Amino acid sequence: MKVGDKHYRTIWLNEDGRSVDIIDQRWLPHDFRIVTLSTVEAVATAISDMWVRGAPLIGVTAAYGVAIAMLDDPSDDNLDATWDRLHETRPTAINLKWALDEMRKTLRPVAPEKRAEAAYARAAEIADEDVALNRAIGGHGLEIIKKIAAGKKPGEPVNILTHCNAGWLATVDYGTATAPVYLAMEAGIPVHVFVDETRPRNQGAQLTAWEMNGHGVPHDLIVDNAGGHLMQHGEIDMVIVGTDRTTASGDVCNKIGTYLKALAAKDNGVPFYVALPSPTIDWTVNDGVSEIPIEERSGDEVSFVQGENAEGAIISVRISPKGTPARNPAFDVTPARLVTGLITERGVAEASAEGLARLFEKEN
Ligand code: MRU
Repeated sequence: MKVGDKHYRTIWLNEDGRSVDIIDQRWLPHDFRIVTLSTVEAVATAISDMWVRGAPLIGVTAAYGVAIAMLDDPSDDNLDATWDRLHETRPTAINLKWALDEMRKTLRPVAPEKRAEAAYARAAEIADEDVALNRAIGGHGLEIIKKIAAGKKPGEPVNILTHCNAGWLATVDYGTATAPVYLAMEAGIPVHVFVDETRPRNQGAQLTAWEMNGHGVPHDLIVDNAGGHLMQHGEIDMVIVGTDRTTASGDVCNKIGTYLKALAAKDNGVPFYVALPSPTIDWTVNDGVSEIPIEERSGDEVSFVQGENAEGAIISVRISPKGTPARNPAFDVTPARLVTGLITERGVAEASAEGLARLFEKEN
Protein backbone atom coordinates (compact mmCIF):
# COMPACT_ATOMS: atom_id res chain seq x y z
CA MET A 1 0.00 0.00 0.00
CA LYS A 2 1.06 3.61 -0.34
CA VAL A 3 2.92 5.65 2.23
CA GLY A 4 2.81 9.15 0.82
CA ASP A 5 3.38 8.62 -2.91
CA LYS A 6 5.48 5.51 -2.58
CA HIS A 7 4.24 1.94 -2.66
CA TYR A 8 5.53 -0.16 0.21
CA ARG A 9 5.26 -3.71 1.33
CA THR A 10 5.99 -4.38 5.00
CA ILE A 11 9.09 -6.47 4.20
CA TRP A 12 11.46 -6.67 1.23
CA LEU A 13 14.90 -7.93 0.32
CA ASN A 14 17.64 -5.36 0.93
CA GLU A 15 19.75 -4.33 -2.04
CA ASP A 16 22.68 -6.30 -0.56
CA GLY A 17 20.69 -9.38 -1.59
CA ARG A 18 20.93 -11.04 1.82
CA SER A 19 19.38 -8.83 4.52
CA VAL A 20 15.71 -7.88 4.75
CA ASP A 21 14.25 -4.44 5.28
CA ILE A 22 11.16 -3.98 7.42
CA ILE A 23 8.94 -1.14 8.53
CA ASP A 24 9.71 -0.86 12.24
CA GLN A 25 6.17 -0.71 13.61
CA ARG A 26 7.17 0.31 17.14
CA TRP A 27 7.29 3.97 16.16
CA LEU A 28 4.11 4.30 14.13
CA PRO A 29 2.08 6.45 13.75
CA HIS A 30 4.57 9.08 14.89
CA ASP A 31 7.61 8.05 12.93
CA PHE A 32 8.09 5.94 9.79
CA ARG A 33 11.33 4.04 10.22
CA ILE A 34 12.86 1.29 8.13
CA VAL A 35 15.25 -1.18 9.72
CA THR A 36 17.57 -3.72 8.09
CA LEU A 37 17.73 -7.21 9.61
CA SER A 38 20.94 -9.10 8.77
CA THR A 39 21.15 -11.95 11.27
CA VAL A 40 18.84 -14.64 12.65
CA GLU A 41 19.10 -13.01 16.08
CA ALA A 42 17.96 -9.68 14.65
CA VAL A 43 15.01 -11.41 12.99
CA ALA A 44 14.13 -13.17 16.26
CA THR A 45 14.24 -9.87 18.17
CA ALA A 46 12.17 -8.09 15.52
CA ILE A 47 9.44 -10.74 15.90
CA SER A 48 9.46 -11.14 19.68
CA ASP A 49 9.69 -7.40 20.40
CA MET A 50 7.02 -6.63 17.79
CA TRP A 51 9.01 -4.50 15.37
CA VAL A 52 7.02 -6.64 12.96
CA ARG A 53 3.75 -8.16 14.09
CA GLY A 54 0.56 -9.68 12.75
CA ALA A 55 0.37 -13.41 12.06
CA PRO A 56 1.05 -13.39 8.29
CA LEU A 57 3.94 -10.92 8.50
CA ILE A 58 5.52 -12.82 11.39
CA GLY A 59 5.52 -15.92 9.16
CA VAL A 60 7.14 -14.16 6.20
CA THR A 61 9.78 -12.53 8.42
CA ALA A 62 10.67 -15.91 9.89
CA ALA A 63 10.97 -17.37 6.37
CA TYR A 64 13.57 -14.71 5.52
CA GLY A 65 15.27 -15.48 8.85
CA VAL A 66 15.78 -19.07 7.66
CA ALA A 67 17.18 -17.78 4.37
CA ILE A 68 19.69 -15.58 6.22
CA ALA A 69 20.71 -18.57 8.35
CA MET A 70 21.36 -20.70 5.26
CA LEU A 71 23.92 -18.23 3.90
CA ASP A 72 26.35 -18.81 6.74
CA ASP A 73 25.66 -22.43 7.59
CA PRO A 74 23.34 -24.45 5.33
CA SER A 75 23.66 -27.67 7.39
CA ASP A 76 20.69 -29.74 8.60
CA ASP A 77 21.68 -28.92 12.16
CA ASN A 78 21.52 -25.18 11.51
CA LEU A 79 18.22 -25.56 9.69
CA ASP A 80 16.75 -27.26 12.76
CA ALA A 81 18.37 -24.83 15.20
CA THR A 82 17.00 -21.85 13.23
CA TRP A 83 13.54 -23.43 13.15
CA ASP A 84 13.70 -23.79 16.97
CA ARG A 85 15.07 -20.29 17.60
CA LEU A 86 12.48 -18.56 15.45
CA HIS A 87 9.60 -20.76 16.53
CA GLU A 88 10.05 -19.76 20.18
CA THR A 89 9.70 -16.03 19.41
CA ARG A 90 5.88 -15.88 19.60
CA PRO A 91 3.63 -18.77 20.58
CA THR A 92 0.13 -17.99 19.34
CA ALA A 93 0.22 -17.04 15.64
CA ILE A 94 0.27 -20.32 13.71
CA ASN A 95 1.58 -18.69 10.52
CA LEU A 96 5.00 -18.67 12.19
CA LYS A 97 5.10 -22.46 12.43
CA TRP A 98 3.50 -22.80 9.00
CA ALA A 99 6.21 -20.67 7.35
CA LEU A 100 9.05 -22.39 9.23
CA ASP A 101 7.66 -25.79 8.24
CA GLU A 102 7.37 -24.67 4.62
CA MET A 103 11.00 -23.54 4.62
CA ARG A 104 12.26 -26.76 6.19
CA LYS A 105 10.17 -28.90 3.84
CA THR A 106 11.56 -27.00 0.84
CA LEU A 107 15.18 -27.05 1.97
CA ARG A 108 15.62 -30.56 3.38
CA PRO A 109 15.87 -32.27 -0.02
CA VAL A 110 18.15 -29.55 -1.43
CA ALA A 111 21.95 -30.00 -1.35
CA PRO A 112 23.46 -27.72 1.34
CA GLU A 113 25.44 -25.61 -1.17
CA LYS A 114 22.20 -24.76 -2.98
CA ARG A 115 20.08 -24.15 0.10
CA ALA A 116 20.59 -20.40 0.49
CA GLU A 117 19.41 -19.71 -3.03
CA ALA A 118 16.42 -22.01 -2.63
CA ALA A 119 15.60 -20.42 0.73
CA TYR A 120 15.50 -16.86 -0.60
CA ALA A 121 13.36 -18.00 -3.51
CA ARG A 122 10.84 -19.78 -1.25
CA ALA A 123 10.72 -16.84 1.21
CA ALA A 124 9.98 -14.46 -1.68
CA GLU A 125 7.28 -16.82 -2.92
CA ILE A 126 5.65 -16.98 0.52
CA ALA A 127 5.64 -13.16 0.60
CA ASP A 128 4.05 -12.94 -2.86
CA GLU A 129 1.53 -15.64 -1.98
CA ASP A 130 0.47 -13.65 1.07
CA VAL A 131 -0.33 -10.64 -1.10
CA ALA A 132 -2.37 -12.79 -3.50
CA LEU A 133 -4.27 -14.51 -0.66
CA ASN A 134 -5.18 -11.18 0.90
CA ARG A 135 -6.32 -9.75 -2.40
CA ALA A 136 -8.58 -12.79 -2.87
CA ILE A 137 -9.94 -12.40 0.67
CA GLY A 138 -10.67 -8.79 -0.22
CA GLY A 139 -12.72 -9.87 -3.23
CA HIS A 140 -14.90 -12.23 -1.18
CA GLY A 141 -15.31 -9.70 1.61
CA LEU A 142 -16.26 -7.08 -0.95
CA GLU A 143 -19.26 -9.18 -1.98
CA ILE A 144 -20.53 -9.10 1.62
CA ILE A 145 -20.03 -5.35 1.84
CA LYS A 146 -21.87 -4.90 -1.48
CA LYS A 147 -24.88 -6.82 -0.15
CA ILE A 148 -25.04 -4.67 2.98
CA ALA A 149 -24.62 -1.49 0.89
CA ALA A 150 -27.52 -2.57 -1.33
CA GLY A 151 -29.84 -2.35 1.71
CA LYS A 152 -28.81 1.23 2.51
CA LYS A 153 -29.80 4.60 1.16
CA PRO A 154 -27.61 5.75 -1.76
CA GLY A 155 -24.39 7.27 -0.46
CA GLU A 156 -24.89 5.99 3.08
CA PRO A 157 -21.70 4.23 4.23
CA VAL A 158 -21.40 0.63 5.38
CA ASN A 159 -20.15 0.89 8.97
CA ILE A 160 -17.52 -1.69 9.80
CA LEU A 161 -15.95 -2.27 13.19
CA THR A 162 -12.48 -3.79 13.39
CA HIS A 163 -10.24 -4.77 16.27
CA CYS A 164 -6.45 -4.65 16.54
CA ASN A 165 -4.55 -4.26 13.30
CA ALA A 166 -5.32 -6.84 10.68
CA GLY A 167 -4.35 -4.36 8.01
CA TRP A 168 -1.53 -4.28 5.49
CA LEU A 169 0.96 -3.75 8.31
CA ALA A 170 0.02 -7.16 9.76
CA THR A 171 0.64 -8.86 6.42
CA VAL A 172 2.88 -8.23 3.41
CA ASP A 173 0.26 -6.06 1.71
CA TYR A 174 -3.52 -5.34 1.73
CA GLY A 175 -4.17 -6.90 5.15
CA THR A 176 -6.76 -9.52 5.93
CA ALA A 177 -9.65 -7.68 7.63
CA THR A 178 -8.85 -4.48 5.74
CA ALA A 179 -8.57 -5.98 2.26
CA PRO A 180 -12.38 -5.88 1.75
CA VAL A 181 -12.39 -2.28 2.95
CA TYR A 182 -9.66 -1.22 0.51
CA LEU A 183 -11.40 -3.03 -2.34
CA ALA A 184 -14.73 -1.41 -1.43
CA MET A 185 -13.00 1.98 -1.60
CA GLU A 186 -11.60 1.07 -5.03
CA ALA A 187 -15.10 0.02 -6.12
CA GLY A 188 -16.56 3.34 -4.99
CA ILE A 189 -18.73 1.83 -2.23
CA PRO A 190 -18.93 4.20 0.73
CA VAL A 191 -17.48 2.62 3.87
CA HIS A 192 -16.71 3.91 7.32
CA VAL A 193 -14.54 2.05 9.82
CA PHE A 194 -14.78 2.10 13.60
CA VAL A 195 -11.27 1.38 14.86
CA ASP A 196 -10.97 -0.21 18.31
CA GLU A 197 -7.93 1.29 20.03
CA THR A 198 -6.93 -2.24 21.21
CA ARG A 199 -5.27 -1.89 24.56
CA PRO A 200 -2.67 -2.59 25.74
CA ARG A 201 -0.45 -2.13 22.66
CA ASN A 202 -2.97 0.06 20.84
CA GLN A 203 -2.51 -1.54 17.43
CA GLY A 204 -5.85 -0.02 16.43
CA ALA A 205 -5.03 3.52 17.52
CA GLN A 206 -1.46 3.42 16.28
CA LEU A 207 -1.51 1.19 13.22
CA THR A 208 -5.02 0.70 11.83
CA ALA A 209 -5.83 4.40 12.24
CA TRP A 210 -2.54 5.27 10.49
CA GLU A 211 -3.47 2.97 7.61
CA MET A 212 -6.98 4.38 7.32
CA ASN A 213 -5.60 7.93 7.30
CA GLY A 214 -3.01 7.03 4.69
CA HIS A 215 -5.64 5.65 2.34
CA GLY A 216 -8.36 8.18 2.99
CA VAL A 217 -10.77 5.66 4.51
CA PRO A 218 -13.37 7.48 6.61
CA HIS A 219 -12.92 6.21 10.16
CA ASP A 220 -13.35 6.96 13.85
CA LEU A 221 -11.12 5.72 16.61
CA ILE A 222 -13.11 4.36 19.55
CA VAL A 223 -12.12 3.01 22.95
CA ASP A 224 -12.31 -0.74 23.26
CA ASN A 225 -15.41 -0.50 25.43
CA ALA A 226 -17.51 1.51 22.98
CA GLY A 227 -18.31 -1.20 20.42
CA GLY A 228 -21.22 -2.77 22.32
CA HIS A 229 -22.89 0.59 22.82
CA LEU A 230 -22.56 1.49 19.13
CA MET A 231 -24.01 -1.87 18.12
CA GLN A 232 -27.01 -1.37 20.41
CA HIS A 233 -27.70 1.90 18.64
CA GLY A 234 -27.52 0.46 15.14
CA GLU A 235 -24.30 2.25 14.25
CA ILE A 236 -22.41 -0.85 13.16
CA ASP A 237 -23.40 -2.96 10.14
CA MET A 238 -20.73 -5.59 10.42
CA VAL A 239 -17.56 -6.56 12.26
CA ILE A 240 -14.48 -7.81 10.42
CA VAL A 241 -11.46 -8.94 12.42
CA GLY A 242 -8.32 -10.90 11.64
CA THR A 243 -7.02 -13.97 13.39
CA ASP A 244 -3.73 -15.38 14.62
CA ARG A 245 -4.93 -18.98 14.58
CA THR A 246 -8.25 -20.51 13.60
CA THR A 247 -8.98 -24.11 14.52
CA ALA A 248 -10.21 -26.86 12.22
CA SER A 249 -13.62 -26.44 13.87
CA GLY A 250 -13.76 -22.68 13.26
CA ASP A 251 -12.83 -21.30 16.70
CA VAL A 252 -11.00 -18.02 16.22
CA CYS A 253 -8.02 -16.90 18.26
CA ASN A 254 -7.31 -13.20 17.87
CA LYS A 255 -6.10 -10.16 19.77
CA ILE A 256 -7.43 -9.88 23.32
CA GLY A 257 -10.87 -8.29 23.37
CA THR A 258 -12.11 -9.90 20.16
CA TYR A 259 -14.31 -12.33 22.11
CA LEU A 260 -16.15 -9.50 23.86
CA LYS A 261 -16.87 -7.88 20.49
CA ALA A 262 -18.23 -11.17 19.19
CA LEU A 263 -20.54 -11.49 22.21
CA ALA A 264 -21.83 -7.98 21.73
CA ALA A 265 -22.31 -8.60 18.01
CA LYS A 266 -24.31 -11.78 18.68
CA ASP A 267 -26.52 -10.01 21.20
CA ASN A 268 -27.25 -7.24 18.72
CA GLY A 269 -27.63 -9.30 15.56
CA VAL A 270 -24.56 -7.69 13.96
CA PRO A 271 -22.74 -10.05 11.54
CA PHE A 272 -19.29 -10.95 12.85
CA TYR A 273 -16.79 -11.96 10.14
CA VAL A 274 -13.21 -13.15 10.44
CA ALA A 275 -10.83 -12.67 7.50
CA LEU A 276 -8.02 -15.18 7.17
CA PRO A 277 -5.62 -16.71 4.69
CA SER A 278 -5.46 -20.52 4.88
CA PRO A 279 -1.98 -20.61 6.52
CA THR A 280 -3.74 -19.24 9.62
CA ILE A 281 -5.81 -22.42 9.96
CA ASP A 282 -4.38 -24.90 12.44
CA TRP A 283 -5.78 -28.20 11.20
CA THR A 284 -4.30 -30.03 14.22
CA VAL A 285 -6.42 -28.19 16.77
CA ASN A 286 -10.16 -28.39 17.35
CA ASP A 287 -11.00 -26.72 20.62
CA GLY A 288 -9.49 -23.24 20.58
CA VAL A 289 -10.10 -22.39 24.23
CA SER A 290 -8.31 -25.40 25.67
CA GLU A 291 -5.73 -26.11 22.97
CA ILE A 292 -4.29 -22.81 21.68
CA PRO A 293 -1.36 -21.44 23.69
CA ILE A 294 -2.12 -17.84 24.64
CA GLU A 295 0.89 -15.55 24.80
CA GLU A 296 1.27 -13.75 28.13
CA ARG A 297 3.27 -10.60 27.55
CA SER A 298 4.91 -8.26 30.04
CA GLY A 299 2.61 -6.46 32.47
CA ASP A 300 4.53 -3.29 31.58
CA GLU A 301 2.53 -3.16 28.34
CA VAL A 302 -0.56 -2.65 30.55
CA SER A 303 1.04 -0.32 33.12
CA PHE A 304 2.65 2.00 30.58
CA VAL A 305 1.33 3.71 27.47
CA GLN A 306 3.48 4.98 24.62
CA GLY A 307 2.73 8.18 22.73
CA GLU A 308 4.11 11.43 21.40
CA ASN A 309 4.46 14.41 23.72
CA ALA A 310 3.89 18.06 22.81
CA GLU A 311 7.55 18.41 21.81
CA GLY A 312 7.27 15.53 19.37
CA ALA A 313 9.27 13.02 21.42
CA ILE A 314 7.97 9.45 21.63
CA ILE A 315 7.68 8.64 25.32
CA SER A 316 6.22 6.03 27.59
CA VAL A 317 4.18 7.00 30.66
CA ARG A 318 3.00 4.97 33.64
CA ILE A 319 -0.80 4.93 34.08
CA SER A 320 -1.15 2.78 37.22
CA PRO A 321 0.29 2.95 40.73
CA LYS A 322 3.85 1.70 41.13
CA GLY A 323 3.55 -1.70 42.74
CA THR A 324 0.22 -2.66 41.12
CA PRO A 325 0.87 -5.90 39.27
CA ALA A 326 -0.62 -6.29 35.80
CA ARG A 327 -1.68 -9.35 33.79
CA ASN A 328 -1.37 -9.27 30.02
CA PRO A 329 -2.90 -12.18 28.10
CA ALA A 330 -2.40 -11.06 24.50
CA PHE A 331 -5.08 -13.12 22.73
CA ASP A 332 -8.46 -14.70 23.34
CA VAL A 333 -10.60 -17.28 21.59
CA THR A 334 -13.98 -16.59 20.03
CA PRO A 335 -15.97 -19.83 19.76
CA ALA A 336 -17.16 -20.73 16.26
CA ARG A 337 -20.82 -20.34 17.31
CA LEU A 338 -20.32 -16.57 17.54
CA VAL A 339 -18.77 -16.25 14.08
CA THR A 340 -21.02 -15.47 11.10
CA GLY A 341 -18.44 -16.50 8.50
CA LEU A 342 -14.75 -17.04 7.79
CA ILE A 343 -13.64 -14.99 4.79
CA THR A 344 -10.83 -16.99 3.18
CA GLU A 345 -9.06 -16.80 -0.18
CA ARG A 346 -11.39 -19.53 -1.43
CA GLY A 347 -14.62 -17.90 -0.35
CA VAL A 348 -16.67 -17.47 2.80
CA ALA A 349 -16.82 -20.60 4.96
CA GLU A 350 -19.27 -21.33 7.71
CA ALA A 351 -17.28 -21.38 10.98
CA SER A 352 -17.44 -25.12 11.53
CA ALA A 353 -15.44 -28.24 10.73
CA GLU A 354 -17.81 -28.97 7.84
CA GLY A 355 -17.70 -25.41 6.53
CA LEU A 356 -13.91 -25.32 6.45
CA ALA A 357 -13.64 -28.85 5.08
CA ARG A 358 -15.96 -27.93 2.19
CA LEU A 359 -13.54 -25.21 1.05
CA PHE A 360 -10.24 -26.89 1.87
CA GLU A 361 -11.12 -30.56 1.32
CA LYS A 362 -8.04 -31.49 -0.67
CA GLU A 363 -5.54 -30.26 1.92
CA ASN A 364 -6.80 -32.43 4.75
O1 MRU B 1 0.19 -9.14 18.79
P1 MRU B 1 0.09 -8.74 17.34
O2 MRU B 1 0.02 -7.28 17.09
O3 MRU B 1 1.12 -9.44 16.50
O4 MRU B 1 -1.33 -9.30 16.99
C1 MRU B 1 -1.66 -9.92 15.88
C2 MRU B 1 -2.64 -9.14 15.18
O5 MRU B 1 -2.29 -8.25 14.43
C3 MRU B 1 -4.04 -9.36 15.38
O6 MRU B 1 -4.39 -10.26 16.34
C4 MRU B 1 -4.74 -9.55 14.07
O7 MRU B 1 -6.05 -9.28 14.24
C5 MRU B 1 -4.50 -10.89 13.43
S1 MRU B 1 -3.13 -10.90 12.36
C6 MRU B 1 -3.80 -10.45 10.80
